[in-house]
Amino acid sequence: MESKDSPKIAPAEGKLGVLIPGMGAVTTTLIAGIEAIKRGMAQPVGSVTQLGTIRLGKRTDNNSPKIKDFVPLAGIEDLTFGCWDIFDDNCYQAAVHAAVLDRATLDQLKAPLEAIKPMPAYFDKQYVKRIDGPNVKAAGSKMDQAVRIMDDIKTFKEKSGADRLAMIWCGSTEVFHKAAPVHATLKDFECGLQKNDPEISPSQIYAYAAIKSGVPYANGAPHLTTDMPALLEAARHYHVPVSGKDFKTGQTFMKTLIAPGLKARSLGLSGWFSTNILGNRDGEVLDDPGSFKSKEESKLSALDQILQPDLYPELYKEFYHKVRIEYYPPRGDAKEGWDNIDIFGWMGYPMQIKIDFLCRDSILAAPLALDLVLFMDLAARSGMRGVQEWLSFYFKAPMTAPGLYPEHDIFIQLMKLKNTLRWMRGADLITHLGLEYYD
Ligand SMILES: NC(=O)c1ccc[n+]([C@@H]2O[C@H](COP(=O)([O-])OP(=O)(O)OC[C@H]3O[C@@H](n4cnc5c(N)ncnc54)[C@H](O)[C@@H]3O)[C@@H](O)[C@H]2O)c1
Repeated sequence: MESKDSPKIAPAEGKLGVLIPGMGAVTTTLIAGIEAIKRGMAQPVGSVTQLGTIRLGKRTDNNSPKIKDFVPLAGIEDLTFGCWDIFDDNCYQAAVHAAVLDRATLDQLKAPLEAIKPMPAYFDKQYVKRIDGPNVKAAGSKMDQAVRIMDDIKTFKEKSGADRLAMIWCGSTEVFHKAAPVHATLKDFECGLQKNDPEISPSQIYAYAAIKSGVPYANGAPHLTTDMPALLEAARHYHVPVSGKDFKTGQTFMKTLIAPGLKARSLGLSGWFSTNILGNRDGEVLDDPGSFKSKEESKLSALDQILQPDLYPELYKEFYHKVRIEYYPPRGDAKEGWDNIDIFGWMGYPMQIKIDFLCRDSILAAPLALDLVLFMDLAARSGMRGVQEWLSFYFKAPMTAPGLYPEHDIFIQLMKLKNTLRWMRGADLITHLGLEYYD
């Protein structure tokens, strides 16, 4: 059934240029994976756009096409990549350094990976303290840097022959900062760029450049970037979709699976202790207290929002929640996360759940980055602008309209995502009421 409000979706013709600040573990794993899929060497495991299906109509209709066949998305074949990084390694060298994928696989993909060389980055050590690199832009005001990034975007589009662009931040986590007066309005922000306001972070400059260039912007890291009034105003003004923050992989992914289950059965929680060890560059950056604080805030928020202690004081009023990340180089990207969950049941009797998740951070994150760029491009072609809350499914700290609490329950997030896709295509929304089967 055609819904009145469904948008008109422009076709996904031609190439989609994927612009990525930060060419580290996640980015190189994403690009190598795409090249491997193009050559039939791998399947897009973990990608809902590629492998997920969507039910249409009644259960008895047996109509569940793949999502990529239901909404017009850019094809894997049509993706082309442009990155910025403070290190000048090409994508092959950066992937070898990240050591996520085995050398034999990377060697088979050497030619396309070597062809991707990072553009000089705009970097500010005040925002990422533990690393430094040579491939950076010349000095200048923050507005000069924004203009240079806009020039990079234009040049990339011309050279790559991309018809459309989407940007996703896969750079390091910046130190924790809150919205300041310079983030109040677009005018304040632009004035701050001219005056080199220290409260404007590098990621905000990339995001500003993207939005002004009409390029959708997703944030894979937990820092503030577009989650403040000035850039949201810009996104609305320039009709650009934005989304964030922080890929929901690893431990928080587990949390958003388990916590809704406990709440669904009205089981209580007295404490949740999460710790993990990881040894990649992300782990090194997060070893700095400022960057860790950004991550900690993002990781802590999910449980409170899911469990709603105000609505369920008997079950969740005073649970103790602690999150630790330990930098431990021998593990590289093969992180290990432990959760100790103290729960209670009937008559307050205590029980425990232990999770030991031996995951691979970038293997979990790469398909999320793929889905996000494809969906952000879809949103842009559908005329959607501002915060794309329907993409909360992918984020640890989902952005919402001001004053709205974020939805963290992964199953509600997935329902919202699929209903948004149904709405876009004018199909009936699925409420799961199902009374019609019993009439
Ligand atoms: N891997 C996961 O599961 C996961 C989950 C959630 C969030 N994240 C976030 O995704 C981001 C990328 O993770 P990663 O494991 O690839 O990290 P990484 O350290 O391997 O890569 C980040 C890259 O960004 C570069 N960089 C830093 N500042 C930059 C700037 N201003 N401009 C351009 N490049 C810059 C660094 O030089 C580095 O190469 C991090 O912020 C991380 O916290 C990752």
